[in-house]
Amino acid sequence: MPNIDKKDFFELLKKNKELQDIIQKEIEKNRQKDEILFAQNKMAALGEMLNNISHQWRQPLMELSSVFIPIEAKVNLGVNIELEEIKEAIQSLNQITKYMSSTIDDFRNFFATNKEIENFKLLEQINIAYKLMSASFKANNILLEIIVSKNPTIIGYKNEYTQVLINILNNAKDALIQKKVPNPKIIIRIKENEDEIILDIEDNAGGIEVFPIEDVFKPFFTYGKKNGTGIGLFMSKLIIENSMNGKLTVTNTNLGANFKIITYKTIIK
Ligand SMILES: Nc1ncnc2c1ncn2[C@@H]1O[C@H](COP(=O)(O)OP(=O)(O)OP(=O)(O)O)[C@@H](O)[C@H]1O
Ligand SMILES: [Mg+2]
Repeated sequence: MPNIDKKDFFELLKKNKELQDIIQKEIEKNRQKDEILFAQNKMAALGEMLNNISHQWRQPLMELSSVFIPIEAKVNLGVNIELEEIKEAIQSLNQITKYMSSTIDDFRNFFATNKEIENFKLLEQINIAYKLMSASFKANNILLEIIVSKNPTIIGYKNEYTQVLINILNNAKDALIQKKVPNPKIIIRIKENEDEIILDIEDNAGGIEVFPIEDVFKPFFTYGKKNGTGIGLFMSKLIIENSMNGKLTVTNTNLGANFKIITYKTIIK
């Protein structure tokens, strides 16, 4: 050890402590920034889904009113109504309201803030993401194909995982619409080995026109979009790699972009 006197030594210790404090503050600032971005990204997803829910509710609302139109007409005309007809109408009403309330449940669950690590079924989360987006998929004729032989269980944050799916599906949808791809299609493939679950999401929109391709994961990186904020993929990578210890990567295939999410079945280090 070099010969330093006591005073220098304490001076050094003090400086060291100051530096540590500065680093700690910067880390905390960064964490707060990520939290804000996370909330922003969830709000964007909220907007997208509100839009979808209003689409999804229009249909059952129409059905509801059409169920009671003949009954109302008969009442007005003073025509006798069979008990059977009323029973059937009530049954339809129950079915339709059940469907509408399940849409709202999905929505509410997705926005629940309980951030707990839990076991969840991958297919269930894919279905929720799809259900929350299906109206805009249908409106744009986008076909979603899910190729799966198993329904693996993942350990992690299920709502955050769904948020990642929504971010990637939204981007694919944007690219398919923007490029006016004939027969727009998104394929989801689920593979599983001893301890990993690999989810591939591939579209046929021609691929990512950014070099190096990894730039799409940078915060605020957006390319070729009118209202892009560039938070979606940055946030997705943070969720998968920091919160769930997994991996999120992207490659271009001969059809389009292929996002790969790798997560684990048991261990979160
Ligand atoms: N499936 C895809 N096909 C082609 N380009 C894509 C695809 N997914 C992402 N990109 C490119 O990556 C960029 C970054 O995506 P990201 O989701 O982070 O931000 P964004 O979609 O622009 O904005 P937002 O914050 O609203 O999601 C996009 O602007 C787009 O250029
Ligand atoms: Mg996006």
